Amino acid sequence: MNGAVGRPAVPYLDLARAAAEGGEALEAALLACVRRGRYVLGDEVAAFEREWAAFCGAPFAVSCASGTDAITLALLGLGVGAGDEVLTVSMTCAPTAVGVQRAGATPVFVDVEPERLTMESAQLESALTARTKAIVPVHLYGRVADMHGIVAFAKANGLFVVEDCAQAHGAALSGRPAGSFGDAAAWSFYPTKNLGALGDGGAVTMARPEVAGRIRKLRLYGYATRNDAEVAGFNSRLDEVQAAGLRVSLGRLAAWNARRRAIAARYDAALASLVPALRAPPPQRAGEAGAQHLYVVRVDDRDAFRGRLEAAGIGTDVHYPRAVHEQPAFAALPRGPLPETERAMREVVSLPLYPQLADDEVERVIEAVRDSVRR
Ligand SMILES: Cc1ncc(COP(=O)(O)O)c(C=O)c1O
Repeated sequence: MNGAVGRPAVPYLDLARAAAEGGEALEAALLACVRRGRYVLGDEVAAFEREWAAFCGAPFAVSCASGTDAITLALLGLGVGAGDEVLTVSMTCAPTAVGVQRAGATPVFVDVEPERLTMESAQLESALTARTKAIVPVHLYGRVADMHGIVAFAKANGLFVVEDCAQAHGAALSGRPAGSFGDAAAWSFYPTKNLGALGDGGAVTMARPEVAGRIRKLRLYGYATRNDAEVAGFNSRLDEVQAAGLRVSLGRLAAWNARRRAIAARYDAALASLVPALRAPPPQRAGEAGAQHLYVVRVDDRDAFRGRLEAAGIGTDVHYPRAVHEQPAFAALPRGPLPETERAMREVVSLPLYPQLADDEVERVIEAVRDSVRR
């Protein structure tokens, strides 16, 4: 309960509600795995990979241990690695850059579109060098990056494209699913994602069988066949229990995304009039159906705004408080000027947005946001 308003708080996120929705079906699927006695890379994983590929409209899906690993595996599977430069954004969280670095490549940061906050394709040319081998755009907050511009630039310059789809499950542009534009897509099933596991998980989707084959070796010690390593690999496998849970949740993903979109539309309608004190998310691109992973508004005095919402019992979060290049581990990486990234990182605030958020909770968020802005 929140003492100030005498009503229960609206949590920023409540994953237990999603698990409760899974109910007996989820519990039965998990228990069946425990009883079956096969725990890693078994039938559940194989079935999930088929079902995830089908959902993404991709010929192949190869699961792995996390979204970060998926970026690394996708790059290595395409032949991108040591000595190569990879153009990406700093308007993301650390794992995008970590995934590139773990492949042995160097992330090079370019700035984002001022409002949509996804990769600005016009920035790519000035960051290009003889060592550039790939581009990793991020579909931040579930908004699809300018894939037409990015893929055209990649084709013109002989570069690979790996889409960071960690926040884009079910997003689409021009009738094509996010993840189907590049040479490969990296997915995270971290519990907070639109499709989340009960722990860590990830996958790479792609169209070319030889890339899928290389990634299958890389995720399992480099094995070509059992006990016979052909390449220097990793241990990055998905558990049966996670795959079983993901299969149950995948059955709900379309409905969950529809609910996310409905909540976002309600926020859009209610918050539009608060400009300029509060800037609601920009409209979608023509032909875009975003995944509405997060609902991110922008304000000038973020701490005060969040404090007022907290006092009203409304949970918020920040994605992210610091750009990647502003964090010590990445400060020395090459980059051009990043004014839009740096400005956005000081202003962004995420409001509660998850499928189990009740209508009256959505209205309470709106009321509290209006009150917080009007003061
Ligand atoms: C944009 C982005 N890229 C990569 C990742 C990494 O995924 P994971 O946490 O599964 O390694 C995440 C999620 O944390 C993410 O949001």
